[in-house]
Amino acid sequence: MKINGKPYRTIWPTADNAAVEIIDQTRLPHEFITLRLNTMRDAERAIRDMQVRGAPLIGVTAAYGVALSMRDHASDAALAATCSVLLAARPTAVNLRWGVERMRAFLAPLAASERADAAWQEAARIADEDVAINAAIGQHGSEIIRAIHQKKGDTVNVLTHCNAGWLATVDWGTALAPVYTAFDAGVPLHVWVDETRPRNQGASLTAWELGQHGVPHTVIVDNAGGHLMQHGRVDMAIVGCDRVTARGDVCNKIGTYLKALAAHDNGVPFYVALPTPTIDWTLQDGVKEIPIEERAAEEVTHIAGLCDDGQVRTVQLTPQGSHAANYGFDVTPARLVTGLITERGVVAANAEAMCALANG
Ligand code: MRU
Repeated sequence: MKINGKPYRTIWPTADNAAVEIIDQTRLPHEFITLRLNTMRDAERAIRDMQVRGAPLIGVTAAYGVALSMRDHASDAALAATCSVLLAARPTAVNLRWGVERMRAFLAPLAASERADAAWQEAARIADEDVAINAAIGQHGSEIIRAIHQKKGDTVNVLTHCNAGWLATVDWGTALAPVYTAFDAGVPLHVWVDETRPRNQGASLTAWELGQHGVPHTVIVDNAGGHLMQHGRVDMAIVGCDRVTARGDVCNKIGTYLKALAAHDNGVPFYVALPTPTIDWTLQDGVKEIPIEERAAEEVTHIAGLCDDGQVRTVQLTPQGSHAANYGFDVTPARLVTGLITERGVVAANAEAMCALANG
């Protein structure tokens, strides 16, 4: 995707292959700043502090974290220690585990002397695969948008939650890949962007990247979606996800479940876009089994924004002394999901279809 006309990925190796660079997502939309990750600890911190975020990008950053670590120490013990540090960075997105375990499985049979170069190449392969996967999701999902347009004969209104655009992946995004693909093909569309409290990934990141691409969009407060659906102003919802169970339960940013309930009540199709590494085949019941991240209360009690003097400042929203709870994700049961848009096609959210996907 392009920023001010210049193509970017969200993570890329430096010219001398000594480190990786990222876009610091905690500074968007008001400042565009890139950061250099020199060590595995830098990668772990970038994931934990959400300078990189979004399930697929977390997985790729972790893979590069393993590669950076192998430069310094490539013994079996170092590989094991590296993997456990990175696995603890954030709990919910299964792509983190997927990326780390893929690196571990690839590197473990190799001699220690071979691991540094091999790890770098494997991390780059994972990044490239993510781009190809998301492009395929874009193709499959754009057909749904196009079909709605053909039936409706007018602008398609898509609602999305959080940021599952290119900033959440290496490129293209998951939920927004169909939007970009349809938009580039000339399908008239407009995106309702949930602001996505508390960290405002919708208002800060989704709105920014849609704006960079020229896609018409409107930011709404998280509670507005149901109202818009009741008035026929949402044709479909597409969200991303952090983990999908083997029976199709979907874990995504907190508030997704409420959107799915409202969509169900109003007959609005509710799609979830995901790369297959986001499927956790070891789990069935998402509500009971998926670990839900709880982050610092300050993310709820405080908010940062651009002041009139051009400075970004943080202010307190809540009364002194009020406690706040900050649950990062929720689970939408499979019965509320119209379809899962994967790189292999659109499948129903149920155990049989997921099984066919795995074997197909
Ligand atoms: O806490 P975040 O910003 O990492 O949460 C991101 C989401 O919930 C995304 O919707 C999800 O990771 C899908 S990203 C393609």
